[in-house]
Amino acid sequence: MGNICCDFNKRIDAKNFQLITEIARGHSSKLFLAIEKLTKQQVAIKQYNKKEIITKDLVQNVFKERNLAIQLSGPFVSNAFGSFQDEDNLYLVFEFIHGPELTHIMHQTDNFGEDFWRFYIAEILVALDWIHTFGIIHGDIKPENILISAQDGHIRIIDFDSATDIIKETSTRINPPIVCGTFAYMAPELLKIQNPTFASDFYSVGVILYEMFHGLPPFYSPDQTKMLDQILNDKPIIDELISKPCGDLIAKLLEKNPNERIGYNGFQEIQKHEFFKGIDWEQIAKKSLTPPLIPKPLFQNIEKNNWIPPLEVSSILTQEEQKIFKNYSFQSNVVKELLNSKSNDEK
Ligand SMILES: Nc1ncnc2c1ncn2[C@@H]1O[C@H](COP(=O)(O)OP(=O)(O)O)[C@@H](O)[C@H]1O
Ligand SMILES: [Mg+2]
Repeated sequence: MGNICCDFNKRIDAKNFQLITEIARGHSSKLFLAIEKLTKQQVAIKQYNKKEIITKDLVQNVFKERNLAIQLSGPFVSNAFGSFQDEDNLYLVFEFIHGPELTHIMHQTDNFGEDFWRFYIAEILVALDWIHTFGIIHGDIKPENILISAQDGHIRIIDFDSATDIIKETSTRINPPIVCGTFAYMAPELLKIQNPTFASDFYSVGVILYEMFHGLPPFYSPDQTKMLDQILNDKPIIDELISKPCGDLIAKLLEKNPNERIGYNGFQEIQKHEFFKGIDWEQIAKKSLTPPLIPKPLFQNIEKNNWIPPLEVSSILTQEEQKIFKNYSFQSNVVKELLNSKSNDEK
């Protein structure tokens, strides 16, 4: 790891953390599990290579993700501690969610019933409704971006680098979606590069709900052009064995025209749907409903390493390029207080 850029906000930096292991590789990022040395808290560190971010034209996205990390702090997201940088990389630090992605649960062979999946769908919807109250459309809701905590069994939504802030961003500028992996979960309007709406996130929930019962998204093909055509034009084929309310909700969430999609006129439209009959939405929002499963924690035998340089190649940035990232670093108030109280304890 290079020296921490001395001119930029040097508030938290690599010295605060002990790196444990790499946990995932994203499309432009790497994720590490680390331990904050003073508080011994486990954290997830998302690392971006500055040069790559400039080359891939993702500067706006990393700043957007950073800004939302500051803004969105709550029970259904992975809360951010702060960010720092060195000459080569940006680092965004989150609370570590000790549990699998929803993908893992969906790919288990057990035949979970409707009540089981309803819980996760209801939590995802409540989390999205909360995110939407900030004027934020997540834009990349898919099972890999939903973590199930092994501590409490509740969901956390992660990965806001495709989000749209409808208050700050002008409606005339439409960003093409960042497609990482598959676009099977993306609403047709996002693929047509039309303005996203809150209902775009609800479409993705429809895909997840479909997949929970069918094993695959409604429109799925290894041939990307074919899949795009299906998403834009085909009707989903819903298994006859699925209950009528569930099938009806899937069809209404997968409505191609966002204006006609359930939830377009407000989350209440979805809450009132028969599939959720008997669901206590207040309990869901308070996380007081008992989850149907507490997953096994990941990384049970943690092997401690010292922080090693995570990046193989070092790319030299010009002064001008470094300036682009000048304001990236921040530290959340919670961390400031924690670190202060810990260092006072140790005096
Ligand atoms: N806070 C976190 N706690 C635990 N694991 C995380 C956390 N954030 C991300 N991950 C893991 O890293 C993966 C990639 O992170 P993500 O933010 O989705 O990156 P990308 O933008 O590249 O998709 C996630 O799917 C998840 O498995
Ligand atoms: Mg992701």
